[in-house]
Amino acid sequence: MEKTIDESKQGNNLVLEHKEENSKKLFIESYGCSMNFSDSEIVASILSEQGFNTTTQLEDADLVLVNTCSIRDKAEQTVRKRLEKYNAVKRTNPKMKVGVLGCMAERLKSKFLEEEKIVDLVVGPDAYKDLPNLIAEVEDGRNAVNVILSKDETYGDISPVRLNSNGVTAFVSITRGCDNMCTFCVVPFTRGRERSRDPQSILEEINDLWAKGFKEITLLGQNVDSYLWYGGGLKKNFEKASELQKATAVNFAQLLDLCAIAQPKMRIRFSTSNPQDLTLDVVESMAKHHNICNHIHLPVQSGSNRILKAMNRLHTREEYFELIDNIKRIIPDCAISQDMIAGFPTETEEDHQDTISLMHYVKYNFGYMFTYSERPGTMAERKLDDDIPEATKKRRLAEIIEVQQEHSHLRTRERLGQTVEILIERESKKSKDQWSGRTPQNLVAVFPKENYKVGDLVNVKISDCTKATLIGTAVGYSQN
Ligand code: SAH
Ligand code: F3S
Repeated sequence: MEKTIDESKQGNNLVLEHKEENSKKLFIESYGCSMNFSDSEIVASILSEQGFNTTTQLEDADLVLVNTCSIRDKAEQTVRKRLEKYNAVKRTNPKMKVGVLGCMAERLKSKFLEEEKIVDLVVGPDAYKDLPNLIAEVEDGRNAVNVILSKDETYGDISPVRLNSNGVTAFVSITRGCDNMCTFCVVPFTRGRERSRDPQSILEEINDLWAKGFKEITLLGQNVDSYLWYGGGLKKNFEKASELQKATAVNFAQLLDLCAIAQPKMRIRFSTSNPQDLTLDVVESMAKHHNICNHIHLPVQSGSNRILKAMNRLHTREEYFELIDNIKRIIPDCAISQDMIAGFPTETEEDHQDTISLMHYVKYNFGYMFTYSERPGTMAERKLDDDIPEATKKRRLAEIIEVQQEHSHLRTRERLGQTVEILIERESKKSKDQWSGRTPQNLVAVFPKENYKVGDLVNVKISDCTKATLIGTAVGYSQN
């Protein structure tokens, strides 16, 4: 997963599975986080049973679905622009139906139908199994809405249709929702309470992916470290679970063990970790299994204790440093990446300098950095003025990005002269004579193709680098 949340990522409208008997055409595209991309694969699977094959041609579609993101205002504006495009196409194909899925659907509910006349269907993230009924309503000429959030839906029983797949890497969702209530974040409102998926169904999906030739999976959740399976339902009800349920419960460190052992040659990644929930048993489990990649995406959002508190991030800057020190002690070669927010309400220059100095301490491999965007309904919106001028937010963000680029370059330069293990994922975007893949630490490397192929695990000797990419030559297959 290159980016946790990114509204510029889009258009996963490719298809792996095609049923001859299916006559209707579905055009589905996703915006935002990896979870949305993964959810679209579940939706494509549900609709494949309803006579729909996916198409890459918007103009041909009987049904257009857009899986939306609400994390920042800009993400929502991007979707509104896409709806304008669908509107233009609908003029030439009046029978085409348009549905909105995901976080914007959940946030705006039936208001969407009033605000955007093009929309026929509004479906929240926990209601995808109702799509067959909702589509039948729409085909009968009525609008349809289902935005009911669930306490136990995990889609664990659905085998996703892999969209836009390179056949090598895949997402496996392990939890849904989030209970953390960071004050800036809309996710707890749009994705509901946190629930974990049955480990058995996770293992089955991983085994199936291996059998189909996949070589790397990313376990997905808003907050993977709080994964807890004790038989289903909300995590907060664990207190009420029976003794047997408690004794046989599986936490995230144990889930990692199970996955790593079930497929010892499958590379395993996970995202996202919240520092307040990442425990050292997870890091120890990573250290135990060579197939769990040495990378932790560990968003901190701010380096200032005062701002962390206002964000309801339940750790201090000092505790974060202690966590980083422990990770580096247990896994010296572990890459760490971040998410940062510039210009949270009341942020002073001093708070901003705390963020910069925290970055200098950690020296992250990479990060996703944003200006604060006030989201309707969040605690920050209700209690705090969005009082940092846009120009100040942008200037602070630019400073944060500059420091990150310096550290990213430092992290790629560290690899010069080393031999690193690369899983080949695709052709390099810059040259058709080169492969592109990633190290376990999530550094991208490019090198001449020779006789290697996509899906091979190879050792690459690094001779050069840019800020974000390692450049080298393959020296043979990896024995791992
Ligand atoms: N746990 C989640 C985090 C979801 S939000 C995950 O799996 O990725 C992803 C990132 O978006 C956050 O870490 C934060 O840096 C950013 N973000 C969330 N709400 C935001 C807001 N209101 N304004 C700016 N950035 C925000
Ligand atoms: Fe959002 Fe915080 Fe959860 S950033 S997704 S409320 S961990």
